[in-house]
Amino acid sequence: MTKPPADLSADDWDELNFPRPHENDFDRVVERAVSRRGFLNGVLAFGSGAAVMGTGLFGSTSALAQNASRFPFTPIGAQTDGMVHVPEGYTATVLARWGDPLVSAADGYDVANGGPVENSDKVFGENTDGMETFSFQGHQLIAINHEYANRKTNLPAAQDGTPANADDVLKFQNLQGVVVMEIAEGENGWQIVKDSPFNRRITHNAPMTITGPAAGHDLLKTEADPTGTASLGTLNNCGSGKTPWGTYLTCEENFNGYFGATDALPEDLPSETVAGYDRYGIGPDGWGYDYHKWDPRFDISKNPNEPHRAGWIVEIDPTDPDSTPVKHTGLGRFKHENAAVVLSTDGRVVVYMGDDERGEFLYRFVSNGVYQPGGSTDGLLDDGTLYVAKYNDDGTGEWLALTPEATGMDMAEILIFSRMAGSAVGATTMDRPEWIAANPHSVEAYCCLTNNKNRGVKPNAGGDATPVNGPNPREANNYGQIVRWRPHGDDHAADTFDWDLYVMAGNPEVHDGAYAGSDNVTAGNMFNSPDGMGFDSSGLVWIQTDGDDSNEGEFAGQGNNQMLVGDPATGEIARFLTGPNGCEVTGLTWSADRRTMFVGIQHPGGDWPDGGGALPRSSVIAVKRDDNGLIG
Ligand code: FEO
Ligand code: CA
Ligand code: CA
Ligand code: CA
Repeated sequence: MTKPPADLSADDWDELNFPRPHENDFDRVVERAVSRRGFLNGVLAFGSGAAVMGTGLFGSTSALAQNASRFPFTPIGAQTDGMVHVPEGYTATVLARWGDPLVSAADGYDVANGGPVENSDKVFGENTDGMETFSFQGHQLIAINHEYANRKTNLPAAQDGTPANADDVLKFQNLQGVVVMEIAEGENGWQIVKDSPFNRRITHNAPMTITGPAAGHDLLKTEADPTGTASLGTLNNCGSGKTPWGTYLTCEENFNGYFGATDALPEDLPSETVAGYDRYGIGPDGWGYDYHKWDPRFDISKNPNEPHRAGWIVEIDPTDPDSTPVKHTGLGRFKHENAAVVLSTDGRVVVYMGDDERGEFLYRFVSNGVYQPGGSTDGLLDDGTLYVAKYNDDGTGEWLALTPEATGMDMAEILIFSRMAGSAVGATTMDRPEWIAANPHSVEAYCCLTNNKNRGVKPNAGGDATPVNGPNPREANNYGQIVRWRPHGDDHAADTFDWDLYVMAGNPEVHDGAYAGSDNVTAGNMFNSPDGMGFDSSGLVWIQTDGDDSNEGEFAGQGNNQMLVGDPATGEIARFLTGPNGCEVTGLTWSADRRTMFVGIQHPGGDWPDGGGALPRSSVIAVKRDDNGLIG
């Protein structure tokens, strides 16, 4: 593709040269699907044909009207202020804020500078995201991701967030990654147990082991590790997962932004490396962290394979502070959102994973081995088959195996460049797959497709066309939707499934038709950009948003980012929590007794007093019922 002329943006130029059809394909694809399958309670039903009407997963078509709500709270309205709001009868308090010490010696957070570099790996990191709790020998442990660092608030304002030396870079590297810490509930609510032997930060420099079919491959060998079986650090830790054997999974998402180049790339780079840089968005400038100027490991002109050691799912044993985290190449390399781990009927490990970029894919891993409680778990996240999802407009879909025969790539290349492997087999381009959650009471899984302004407008980074299609039915999709699938034979290892849309977010006050959203979206519960998601033990699905919180125009009436809860059986959705303006609500888990729900408030704006006032800090909050009843 030639360069766009100076007076046109790349997007405008793209549109001019590859004009899209005037007709909105929504009518063609979705209205047809709707009339064939019917909206049941505001959701598209599984299966095809009128026979499923009223008898499908969701019960009768009027279930919403007939059934009493399963939600034990009065939903709250949209909010636009700098506070956290929860329903009457619930209270939210802060468990931990960015900069809170994990050890007594690291006390003393500095609002002006974000804290000194020497403490930066001994405090709660910034921008909390996915999290999971673990009970171990009477201790309540929690592992939490720290996705990224706010450059301007971590470095003196005069620097405008630009590192001036290696210590500035080290501070960024230390404030991100993962925290494992012990927590306890006392008279003052939930607190970090300072100085607990379990407290641990896993930063951008922490040693890791690389396992699986790509370990030791030439593309993973670097100056720091010539064997290709080790790595330093875990980058841009977004969503999370938990294995049946009690370990934490942290998912590397926008790892590309940390790399840059101080010089021209080596001329003898393999063509797949260069193609990979293009597909994964690795370029000479990075996203402003400037690691490459102070830490040669991140300089692709010197260490061109270093980016290949990021973009993986990392397994951490929270119960052993001396354990080395493991990067599992078997789970593929892409911009991992989270990992939803389930077992097939015969005990194999199935991991559902999304790649959060416009027009990228949904993945599934199925292990060769079977999980046996107490048995060895070696290879269960590495030895198996990686698949991509292909959705048909008729409500069916299939998992396409990424094999050398199907892709023309060798196994290591399939795993290191999973996106290219997915393109090779014709996976369905998706509207930015964020979190996936599996229903504990029914063999089905849900995925938030957060939004995609490029749907029907331009191809993905690999050149795959992105016409509107079944699960991604709206052009220039600014609201997002949640797709769910039910594997055939009620077995997560089955290669075929039925799918439908649980909800299409929208704005019924501003639009008619598709952009108003599905019938379970009303003026009272509307939202945009579903992102974080998880099922509670009762089978309700909690939905968090990371969208436009301007409360204007297309988004009028939706307010700040929020957390809602949905009933899978009826489609009913109710707003439970709203975050301070500017924030994203992301990450959720429960205490062992299920009387506390932990929720992440990432990058709050405004002046949220509980988050630190003048400089509101990213925090994890603890939400409880005032009667100390169960909350999921
Ligand atoms: Fe880190 Fe796609 O969210
Ligand atoms: Ca997310
Ligand atoms: Ca998001
Ligand atoms: Ca985010």
